[in-house]
Amino acid sequence: MKALEGVRILDMTHVQSGPTCTQLLAWFGADVIKVERPGTGDATRRQLQDIPDVDSLYFTMLNHNKRSVTLNTKHETGRAIFTRLIEACDVLCENFAPGALDRMGFSWERIQEINPRLIYASVKGFGPGPYEDCKVYENVAQCTGGGASTTGFDEGPPLVTGAQIGDSGTGLHLALGIVTALFQREKTGRGQRVECAMQDGVLNLCRVKLRDQQRLAHGPLKEYPQYPNGTFGDATPRSGNASGGGQPGWIVRCKGWETDPNAYIYIITQAAAFDGLARAIGRADWLEDEDWSTPAARLPKLDRMFAEIEKWTEKRTKFEVMEILNPLNVPCGPVLSMKELAEEPSLRATGTVVEVDHPERGRYLTVGNPIKLSASPAEVVRSPLLGEHTSEVLREVLGMDAQEVDAARREGAV
Ligand SMILES: CC(C)(COP(=O)(O)OP(=O)(O)OC[C@H]1O[C@@H](n2cnc3c(N)ncnc32)[C@H](O)[C@@H]1OP(=O)(O)O)[C@@H](O)C(=O)NCCC(=O)NCCS
Repeated sequence: MKALEGVRILDMTHVQSGPTCTQLLAWFGADVIKVERPGTGDATRRQLQDIPDVDSLYFTMLNHNKRSVTLNTKHETGRAIFTRLIEACDVLCENFAPGALDRMGFSWERIQEINPRLIYASVKGFGPGPYEDCKVYENVAQCTGGGASTTGFDEGPPLVTGAQIGDSGTGLHLALGIVTALFQREKTGRGQRVECAMQDGVLNLCRVKLRDQQRLAHGPLKEYPQYPNGTFGDATPRSGNASGGGQPGWIVRCKGWETDPNAYIYIITQAAAFDGLARAIGRADWLEDEDWSTPAARLPKLDRMFAEIEKWTEKRTKFEVMEILNPLNVPCGPVLSMKELAEEPSLRATGTVVEVDHPERGRYLTVGNPIKLSASPAEVVRSPLLGEHTSEVLREVLGMDAQEVDAARREGAV
């Protein structure tokens, strides 16, 4: 049995943020029925295509384990079918531009009338406020949620990160909101509205940067590269590769860095493991020297300390450094490329990286469920073709017969 077996999700999501949420719920066993516009479907099916006329990896990697139904919710018959789907489902999930579902005729009030047990979950770019009507994509959210202003180096422009904290991050938040609302419904019998704004999701993930904003009022942020040589303004600055925690860290070069852009390792000079680290890099003298022997003494010269560490790491590969420092309890991690991650056997073994077969594109690689439940294993099933399950769902979920489905198809409703 799967954890969410018996939960049916009316999935009106598209692009990335919403689909990541419903994909997770599908991996936990929910029946996710993805409703797409006839003819076109989710726009990502045709974006960044690597093979002509075949669903893109953008789409396939975000829509596993779902069923696809085409339905024109602006067509009268389509709207009637959609109403019946709302009656038959536990959750309606969407991430359209603000007001889109209302414009289709499905306000929250109307949805509650149709099915008071339904949980209506949405991702929007912003919560109520000056920007509530704006359309938002990933990098807009990274900029408006505090990610960009605090990422990068002091001397450079703000930077967005490759981790999709605005889209996939908000999808994760929404999934938690949905299962929490389902849990509450077990007790009250009523559904509720679940809303996640991408700005809020990014800010939540940047929590430590708002922490630093307030610490700044009481003096310089001593773990930041701006200390002691640079200057601080009135807002949390970009911290380069500083650790962000109480234990100093930095990225240092490893053997081959001149040609390999990922020949680097992150090293955290945790106080408890500093003796071992100092000895390993040939600087046992630091342990006897009061200029270096304590964390407080090292704090004003972290740049010099990491430069010394780098002289040692530059002569070894990132994996050799890992092998030497890990037994000494020095927290460190090689900078792994996507190529290395794709080939990593341990990630294949746990199902975090999975090969999937697709009838049109053949085999491709994807990221499986990163959340492992011991009693609800997730199996990755390929994404559906556009409208692949229209007849199946209309018959099985709504009890429509073949003639009714055909009639709806002829009208252009499905
Ligand atoms: C992502 C986003 C910017 C894309 O904008 P977009 O491509 O212009 O798409 P919209 O969301 O405006 O929706 C397109 C239209 O298709 C319509 N549509 C969608 N599915 C339909 C269906 N099955 N049948 C008929 N019409 C449908 C919508 O009703 C909407 O029409 P409207 O503008 O007349 O109301 C926007 O959806 C958004 O801001 N979403 C919220 C934030 C978010 O999730 N962003 C991250 C995306 S990864």
